[in-house]
Amino acid sequence: MIPAEDLQCLKVIALRGGCKNPVFVSSQTIGEMLACSQQTASRRLKGLESRGLITRTIAADGQHVTITSNGEEELRKEYQDLCRIFSECDKGYILSGTVVSGIGEGKYYMSLEPYKQQFRTHLGFEPYPGTLNIRLPSSVLPVRKKIDSLGWIRIKGFSTDGRTFGDAKCLPCRIGDVPCGIVVPGRTHYPEDIIEVIAPVALRRKFGVEDTDTVTVEVGQ
Ligand SMILES: Cc1cc2nc3c(=O)[nH]c(=O)nc-3n(C[C@H](O)[C@H](O)[C@H](O)COP(=O)(O)O)c2cc1C
Repeated sequence: MIPAEDLQCLKVIALRGGCKNPVFVSSQTIGEMLACSQQTASRRLKGLESRGLITRTIAADGQHVTITSNGEEELRKEYQDLCRIFSECDKGYILSGTVVSGIGEGKYYMSLEPYKQQFRTHLGFEPYPGTLNIRLPSSVLPVRKKIDSLGWIRIKGFSTDGRTFGDAKCLPCRIGDVPCGIVVPGRTHYPEDIIEVIAPVALRRKFGVEDTDTVTVEVGQ
């Protein structure tokens, strides 16, 4: 494995086409691209050359640099690592937390037909009247933040009998093999570390869980 700064140097040369053809660069240009001094860039190029990762033809005001097949191999290894990282991400986001009781308001809101009808349309199931509240430990909060940028579905608020009901947003997810949805009501009283999950079944009964038990919600593939 080569030092990260050498890999970075190979990468900027490769981005200019150096895997295929010689590219003309000055050590000053490389220094600017790597955010280091010209002297450091020059040392790095020499180092890459002496380890057989690039070849150089020195000119008056710079050099023609070509990445060798060994240099290309180092970049490929990095590429494969990155592919692994991003295909792991495709496996989905995991939100594990503990079941907590609310005051039962979720049941009321989930019984209102205009909300139910939108969940049916968007999630493809008749939601059980109730929400399962899950408290996420602080280690999982970065995951909770990340899923904010996924494709949440807007659930529109409505007015009836002189009362207004607010918008909510919903994200399809799973608990085990049960298709579920994370619901975030616009007017929720809950802090960020509590998520509310809806499902076609009573999740507590289905999984035999009660307060303080751990539940794992998966979002994504
Ligand atoms: C689909 C849906 C819509 C909601 N709309 C409102 C609302 O308009 N106004 C409001 O104060 N709370 C609304 N809430 C949030 C609830 O007041 C509350 O935060 C939550 O559902 C707590 O339920 P729990 O007591 O069962 O834990 C809504 C909840 C859900 C699930």
